[in-house]
Amino acid sequence: MVLILAILSIFCQLISGEEYCIKRTQQDCPLETFLVKDEQSCFYTCKKFEDGEDTPGMISDMYDKTSCAFTYHLSPENYTIRPQCDNDGKFLARQCFGDKVVGGGRCFCHSETGERIFGWAWRKDAENMTCTCSRQMHKSNNELTLHCDEMGNYEPLQCTGGVCWCADSKSGELLQGTKLVPESMLDILPCYKLEDVGTQYLRQCESAAKAQRDLLMAYHKHGSTNVEFNRILCDYDGSYAAVQITNGKLMCSWKDGNKLGEYTAGAAYINQMNCYCARDQKYFADELLPFRLECAGNGNYLYKQAINVTHFCVNDNGIETWQSKLPLSEDECRQHVYSLAENEPYYPDSNEDQYEYY
Ligand SMILES: *[C@@H]1O[C@H](CO)[C@@H](O)[C@H](O)[C@H]1NC(C)=O
Ligand SMILES: *[C@@H]1O[C@H](CO)[C@@H](O)[C@H](O)[C@H]1NC(C)=O
Ligand SMILES: *[C@@H]1O[C@H](CO)[C@@H](O)[C@H](O)[C@H]1NC(C)=O
Repeated sequence: MVLILAILSIFCQLISGEEYCIKRTQQDCPLETFLVKDEQSCFYTCKKFEDGEDTPGMISDMYDKTSCAFTYHLSPENYTIRPQCDNDGKFLARQCFGDKVVGGGRCFCHSETGERIFGWAWRKDAENMTCTCSRQMHKSNNELTLHCDEMGNYEPLQCTGGVCWCADSKSGELLQGTKLVPESMLDILPCYKLEDVGTQYLRQCESAAKAQRDLLMAYHKHGSTNVEFNRILCDYDGSYAAVQITNGKLMCSWKDGNKLGEYTAGAAYINQMNCYCARDQKYFADELLPFRLECAGNGNYLYKQAINVTHFCVNDNGIETWQSKLPLSEDECRQHVYSLAENEPYYPDSNEDQYEYY
């Protein structure tokens, strides 16, 4: 056996190593084991390790708790939802859960490290969903001014740094047969539609946010510091973000900026409040689907849920993670939610440090 392995190993190296190795990925390993590569040969194995154990040959970032491979291999006893990983053990941009056909199944955009970011679709409509625009915006820390559509793809018309172009919806790249133009000439582009974009290429929320910024700037110049500001936060598609700051309090909002329900929290909780439940209630109603889950006071999903006599837990996205015959507490359900996600709203083109918001 050893001999055969040795011969195989030499053979692998002779035919120029790596490319000829049988490529395995973390996802080929059984749960709770991690992929290890023998440095000297082509052999990959799956091994079980104690948390934090230092192991030669361990494929990188297995112990990085934000890596998808790590999350994927958490004990199924506690985490029933498996994330979808790429070959490098990072989160796929698009994470889909639930029913494909009848509705209710959904896909959400995620960062490489597993945070939910802007962009979602019903699973049945998600065939062309890539989340590439959403990821690019997220990576740029909102420095870019690209425009994404609701499922995180690129809008047909893009402008940034004073130039505009017609973009491929999946790559954001210049559409074949079209050219870059200065922003002032944007109306000659074939993808330009006045009714979609307005003359300034700003959406409802972005325009409002810009007006507010100008106002803040004016206050600031005149030395006023104690003005109670509302804070307008936008999504990558130029609509209002789900969480808004009104009179120093957080509230949930629909895409047009209208208040959604009576959900609220103190401004200090901005990184915990996501309003996903508050928004989903409306998304389901608009799709004529029943919505039976309960929202917390801040518009997030309650982790503990019950329908009739069935008790179960859901995660931040309202996806069921656990079932029980007995009533569950919020804390019990929290043990079945592995969440690094924090909802990061989009502060368009802002100089955060100049102002006090709360
Ligand atoms: C896993 O779940 C059980 C209850 O089902 C709990 O006692 C335990 O602490 C959980 N483990 C972790 C790591 O959360
Ligand atoms: C996805 O894109 C293809 C090609 O552009 C198109 O034919 C198809 O209808 C799209 N699917 C959905 C669900 O929009
Ligand atoms: C269970 O809930 C549904 C609505 O969600 C209701 O129609 C049904 O009557 C309930 N069943 C019982 C046994 O309470």
